[in-house]
Amino acid sequence: MLRTHNCGELRLEDQGSRVLLSGWVQRSRDLGGMTFIDLRDRYGITQLVFNMESDATLREQARKLGREWVITAEGKVAERSNKNAKLPTGDIEIMVDKLTVLNESVLPPFTIENNTDGGDELRMKYRYLDLRRTVLKENMELRHRMAFETRNYLDTQKFLEIETPYMIKSTPEGARDFVVPSRMNPGEFYALPQSPQTFKQILMVAGFDRYFQIVRCFRDEDLRADRQPEFTQIDCEMSFVTQEDILNTFEGLARHLFRSVLNVDIMDFPRMTYADAMKRYGSDKPDLRFGMEFTELTDLVSGKGFKVFDEAGLVVGFNATGCHEYSRKQLDALTDFVRKPQIGAAGLVYIKYGNDGVLKSSVDKFFTPEDLKTIAGRFGAHEGDLMLILAGKEHKTRKALCELRLEMGNQLGFRDPYNFKPLWVVDFPLLEWDEETSRFYAMHHPFTSPKPEDIPLLDTDPGQVRANAYDLVMNGVEIGGGSIRIHNKALQNKMLGILGFSEEEAQKQFGFLMNAFEFGAPPHGGIAFGFDRWCALFGGQESIRDFIAFPKNNSGRDMMIDSPSTIKDEQLKELCLEIKINR
Ligand code: AMO
Repeated sequence: MLRTHNCGELRLEDQGSRVLLSGWVQRSRDLGGMTFIDLRDRYGITQLVFNMESDATLREQARKLGREWVITAEGKVAERSNKNAKLPTGDIEIMVDKLTVLNESVLPPFTIENNTDGGDELRMKYRYLDLRRTVLKENMELRHRMAFETRNYLDTQKFLEIETPYMIKSTPEGARDFVVPSRMNPGEFYALPQSPQTFKQILMVAGFDRYFQIVRCFRDEDLRADRQPEFTQIDCEMSFVTQEDILNTFEGLARHLFRSVLNVDIMDFPRMTYADAMKRYGSDKPDLRFGMEFTELTDLVSGKGFKVFDEAGLVVGFNATGCHEYSRKQLDALTDFVRKPQIGAAGLVYIKYGNDGVLKSSVDKFFTPEDLKTIAGRFGAHEGDLMLILAGKEHKTRKALCELRLEMGNQLGFRDPYNFKPLWVVDFPLLEWDEETSRFYAMHHPFTSPKPEDIPLLDTDPGQVRANAYDLVMNGVEIGGGSIRIHNKALQNKMLGILGFSEEEAQKQFGFLMNAFEFGAPPHGGIAFGFDRWCALFGGQESIRDFIAFPKNNSGRDMMIDSPSTIKDEQLKELCLEIKINR
């Protein structure tokens, strides 16, 4: 063995023992003839000392060690005169009498510290160095713990983990597929799964009753902080259940993870309909860590001669309690914020409710003090408050106000990452109309069941049909989504028809599933959680990137292995792919 202990475990009780430690040189210091080395491994840091009593060759050897060299040091544990309370091993040090260099290291391109000087791209290129940093190491440990506890809980609930294939068939719904050419079937392609959706439904037809899988999914879509082209789901499906059973089972999983991983007890999993969430927060994933619910004013403020309000489809705002002292400069900055192209509001109207009871607004020209009092009354505002109002087209204005609400939440410090506020959003619409292509799309996916009482609307007003679909939202992030499924061939066919599939196309794409429904398919439903998002949430961060060992950058590139890459002409030929792109 190249070690008797690791670098995180020696304590004062070990004083006097002879030990052998191996690890990386974190830093070295020369002080008055003594050389100190911080030796690091996965478990921690231990201080090595080469002092006056060490022989000169040994000290010379120690002085030559560079950052990230891999060494083995042998010596005696001693009490430290200058203790370091920040380190678990801070009471001791090792008086080294034998040193072996196992491997040298070139100078790392960034510091291996929690606050590193390395930029994102550099860190990704040298991911093995990045992963040596304690923060990233702890993220990987957290991820392991989460996966372990997920399996633990689902096992106690009789779920079976079953693997489904990664080489499947391209389907036209959802995001774009990543495809893999088949050499043995020239001109044909597999697709990597966007999720194991149809397979888990088939497993229900096969009678497995409760399935789960911690599974990689692939989606060729635009990337953001919480999106990667390959990501991991905790994918689940159950038979003979109602929506209520599913919500209860997975509230159980969430509670178990919070308790076992973070030692946090979450008491409440409130529910809100999609319609309500949009109306009250302008979002289907509202952040419930703070209030500032929307108040609609359209009827109250039109007809006063203020064109912006008169011509708006919707005038809506929220009350920021106690914020009347926001300065001109701060309000201008908020106006600039809502005018950013990605938010797209034309401007911002404010009303300040002074501590003296006087109301002042940016539209005083058009509204009398009485008018402002009535508006403040609708907001439920009090002295000392600030009301922020946007106007414009309904959908866009709600979305813009949602962004402003989140920005105010940030500014006022309401978005503490360790304050966890879950929410089930239920009763999503089944379909979504797309103006550009003039057709309906499934809001969740084509296998989601309409609410039985809304089925007649499929023929008359499909846009109004609600689905038995639900999302689990936490602190404004969608961390999971699922639905009760269609398990009847005729209804599935009808749904695909509404989505614009001809009978023939439907059979070609999804015939295997509809055929399976003819062989005694049980009622079933399920959910999938974004596992990377769960991990980031538990780690108190918004970006999932540092919770994935080898993530891709925003252009979908793996900077370390430099992928995607071109392939040789012979390989292309073998695959019958001779198309060349001129770069
Ligand atoms: P959905 O498409 O809602 O549902 O995905 C489930 C959850 O996966 C996470 N997620 C992502 N995480 C990181 N990067 C991405 N690109 C990404 N895309 C999605 C989200 C999301 O809530 N088969 C259905 C589930 C079901 O109906 O059972 C599905 O995949 O947290």
